[in-house]
Formats: sequence, C-alpha cells, structure tokens
Amino acid sequence: MSVRILVIDDDADMLAMLCRHLEQEGFAVTTVRGGAAGVAAVRAEEWDVILTDLVMDDIGGMEVLAAAREHRPAARVLLMTAFGSLETAIEAMREGAYDYLTKPVKLGEVTVAITRALEDRRLRRENERLRARVEAEHGIGRILGESKVVEAVLEQIRAVADSDAPVLLLGESGTGKELAARALHLAGPRRAEPFVPVNCGAIPESLLEAELFGHEKGAFTGADRRRPGLFLTANHGTLFLDEIGDLPVTLQVKLLRAVQEHAVRPVGSAGLVPLDVRLISATHRDLAQMIHDGQFREDLYYRLAVVPIRLPALRERPDDIPLLAHHVLDGAARRLGKALTGFDEAAMTWMTGHRWPGNVRELENVVERAAVLAKGPLVTVADLGTEFSLAGGMPSLRPTLDELESQYIRRVLDESRGDKPTAARVLGVSVRTLQRRVKVL
Ligand SMILES: Nc1ncnc2c1ncn2[C@@H]1O[C@H](COP(=O)(O)OP(=O)(O)OP(=O)(O)O)[C@@H](O)[C@H]1O
Ligand SMILES: [Mg+2]
Repeated sequence: MSVRILVIDDDADMLAMLCRHLEQEGFAVTTVRGGAAGVAAVRAEEWDVILTDLVMDDIGGMEVLAAAREHRPAARVLLMTAFGSLETAIEAMREGAYDYLTKPVKLGEVTVAITRALEDRRLRRENERLRARVEAEHGIGRILGESKVVEAVLEQIRAVADSDAPVLLLGESGTGKELAARALHLAGPRRAEPFVPVNCGAIPESLLEAELFGHEKGAFTGADRRRPGLFLTANHGTLFLDEIGDLPVTLQVKLLRAVQEHAVRPVGSAGLVPLDVRLISATHRDLAQMIHDGQFREDLYYRLAVVPIRLPALRERPDDIPLLAHHVLDGAARRLGKALTGFDEAAMTWMTGHRWPGNVRELENVVERAAVLAKGPLVTVADLGTEFSLAGGMPSLRPTLDELESQYIRRVLDESRGDKPTAARVLGVSVRTLQRRVKVL
C-alpha cells in the first residue's frame, strides 16, 4: 500500500505543483484547498502525512494540526510557513507538528521532510511493537492460567499496576510471586525505571541495613567507599522485597521508618535522602501468625499490605495444569530440538492428581526433566520419574508398605526442598511425627 499524503493550501498553483512532485516520488496524494476543507479531509480518512500551509484565509494550519492530533494521532503533520511566521511554526512544533518547511518550499526539501517523518513513524511503531513483546514475554502475559482464581489475580494486578499502593504478594513457594511482582512493575508507569529485587532472607543481618539504605565511606570496617543502597538504586522504580517474612525485627523498624518518611538514612549519615519508590513485597510465610508470635511488626504489615494479593497454589487450580505443562514442554522441546507433542494419558492423569507442593516451579522441573528423558513424541508417566505410579513402575518391584512409606516421605521432603513444615502439611502429619519418621529413614 502506498503512503497517503494530504496536502492543504490556499493556493491552487502551489497544490498542483506539490501534487505533481509527490506523485512522481511514488506517494498517493490528495490535495485540498483551504483550511476548512482541510480539517474535513483530516477527519474523513486515514493519512500517513499531512502537509499543510500555516496561514490560510479561513482556518489556519494550527487548527488543522489540532484536528490531526485528535482524529489521526498516527499521522505526521508538516507545516509550510513563510519566514515571518517562524514563531508560530515553533509553537506548532511544541503542539505536536513533526516538522516545518519555510516558504518558498524547495521540492527536494519536501521529499526529505516526508521521508524523515515516515522513518520516524516506522521507528516509533517498531518500538511500540518491541515494548508490547517485552511486556508479553516478561509482564502480565507470562502469567499463564485460565482458572477463575488466576483470572482474579490478573484482574487485581491490572487494577493496581498504575497506582503506587504497596502490594504484598502471598503464596506458597513456586506460585509465581516474583513473576507477579515483575508483571506489576512492567504494567505500570514505572516500567522504564529500575526493578530491583532484594531477597531479605539471603543477606546476612549485619549487612542488610547498609545493603538496603546505603552507607557513607568509613561507616564501618570495609566501607571503603560510599554506596547508594538498593532503595536509592530503585529510585523512581520498584523495589521488590522478597521473603519479607525473613526480615529481622531490628530492620523491620528501620524499613517502617523509610516507608513512612519516603526517605532513607544511609548508615553513617546524619541526613535523610528523599525517595520515590514503589514497594512490592512477598512472602510464603504466614505473617498473621508471625505477628501473633511477635516476630513481625503489625504496623509494618499494614504499611506493606495496602493491597494483599494471594497467588493460588497449583493444586487449587488443577484445570490449569495441562496448559502449564504443555507450555513448559513446548519450551523444553524447542531448546532440546526434540519433537515432543504432548503427554500420554497416564502422565496427564498423574500430573492433574499430584499435589505439587513446589507448585509451578516443581511442575517446570518435572516436565523439563521428562522432556530430556522422553524417547517418543509423547511424555510417559515413566519419564515423569514418579516412582509411585504403578503403571510406569517395574512390575517386579513390590515394595513393602514400610518401604513405600519411607520412599514417599523422602520424595515429599525432596520436593519441599527439605522444608519440614511444608512436607508435614503435604503428608498430613505434624512436624514432630515427620521428624520422628525421618530419624529412622
Ligand atoms: N501462572 C504462571 N504461569 C507461568 N509460569 C509461572 C506461573 N507461576 C509461576 N510460574 C513459573 O514458576 C517459577 C516459579 O515462579 P516464581 O519464582 O515467581 O515463584 P515464587 O512464588 O517467587 O516462589 P518462591 O517463594 O519459591 O520464591 C518461575 O519459573 C515462573 O516463571
Ligand atoms: Mg520468589
């Protein structure tokens, strides 16, 4: 499709000349005489470039520009102006005109200006396309699921992405809390600013304060230079406080102060540094219980959990398991260069019935490993490595009940990455019972 150009001027000779020239250059040209007819043409049809005279008898080029901004936001507007009205031309640029040409216009310059306007528009479109792709790949589009519970989570994320309200993401391990945090950042107005994740449980308590709030040179042994800290690094963007339940009580006080004052006090500094940071925090812990036990400050909780969003466990949304499993399998197959088309019936039955204590992360691990092992186009239950599936197990293997129980406990512990409270919950026994059993394994 050729590029459509609308030319508006008072002067019929000028219109005829521009039309002839631009058609020779291969553009589809429409000429309109006078500003009022020009505005009508702007409204009537799509245009790629609108070339308009600035001073006309009835309606001026500024009004054509205004109509174009309103009705044809994708079109590029070029103004033609006599030398005397340069001030207005500059004003027009400020109002969104792309460029201006000084009269008498040279035909070569018209071509150059139009080519540049089109190139600018192409680049902008390319940028928008890339941004949409980044958002689809890293943002909300990466959170998969068609179940009602996931729909509700997506709804909540969309509803609060534009605001600065602190969000607390709750959910078991592997339910997608970090994924949701990144999606919130990318869906909001801070998307071009930094997203800074901090794992509050992974940094030693003695270093955490300086790590978060920064420090002056010589503030403590080893502080050989001044450092800004993660809060300042995240300035204008988002700070993601992961595993907030692991934040030591002393630091909870300091974090509360920073949140209340919108400022931080670097270690070794007397002054406050003002900040503009959106806070997202996450934990797999039961904060209500921690507050009850005096391990987490209630005032801080209310500051961080202005909007609490709970990510559902995978077993609460078994309908999403086939979708997620296929998604992971497709990715793995592509990386491995294998032609894997799906799962056999027994494999799918096992997956939809499994409790998934490690949630989506566990599902990713299981399916990726199965993709490596799979020999045919379909992943079988044996590929999934589920030693309890009698369908896939070796017929000669007949474990005793005791052996089976030990195997099962070991497996659940393994899947819970050694986290006894989680394993105990999955097994339906108390932590003490589990500990007793582990001793004799
Ligand atoms: N709804 C989902 N759709 C697609 N992938 C998901 C979804 N939820 C989680 N994942 C994937 O599962 C893995 C674990 O997710 P993530 O790290 O966000 O979990 P988490 O809740 O932060 O876990 P943890 O508490 O263990 O840190 C990631 O690879 C993530 O991409
Ligand atoms: Mg996480």
